[in-house]
Amino acid sequence: MAPAPTAASLVSLSRRGLVAAPALMLLVRPLGATVIATPPQMVGPYYPVAKPTDSDIDLTEVKGRSGRATGEIIEVHGRVLSARSGPLGGALVEIWQADHQGRYHHPDENAGPADPNFQGFGAVRTAAGGEYLFRTIMPRFYGSGRFQRTPHIHFRVVAEGRPEFVTQMYFPGVAMNARDFLFSRLGGDAARDAVTARREPADLPRFRFEVVLA
Ligand SMILES: [Fe+2]
Repeated sequence: MAPAPTAASLVSLSRRGLVAAPALMLLVRPLGATVIATPPQMVGPYYPVAKPTDSDIDLTEVKGRSGRATGEIIEVHGRVLSARSGPLGGALVEIWQADHQGRYHHPDENAGPADPNFQGFGAVRTAAGGEYLFRTIMPRFYGSGRFQRTPHIHFRVVAEGRPEFVTQMYFPGVAMNARDFLFSRLGGDAARDAVTARREPADLPRFRFEVVLA
């Protein structure tokens, strides 16, 4: 059984006071024997060239701007785990994603500028129990033809003593997932399940995504 997160670890997750302790208590559950390592996926072309000055866990606001990101606000949370030893505290978790129009903050984005009120990138260190949380928006699909991408969030995880790990999180119940050239290329239902977040009941749409390192 993973240890319950301490008040200090919960507070450390929140730089803007958006994390409620009861919500994170739901994260604490034993690592089941059938858990498989999360499949790696390509970094893709839109990892930030330069990290934004504001790269905190709330992607719906950009420091110094009064506006809020356009789109459906969601929470994404979960844990970083070792398949062998359980929760990994202190791991760096980075996410980056498209905005409500399917655009990234990146110089190679040729569909037009991304929402200036959307941070687009966030980073946090996991708490002692491996927990992380981000507030963001539901990304839109992008691309066209056979290279059209279903909505997804990119993850980069760096845990002490391990090589960096990169994957992508997908949303449950999205029909476009089956046509996505990266999602559909994953080797089997278990692999696709391992990169698909779980929807949880909450006031805000909340998705749980566990990153399990081999
Ligand atoms: Fe992407």
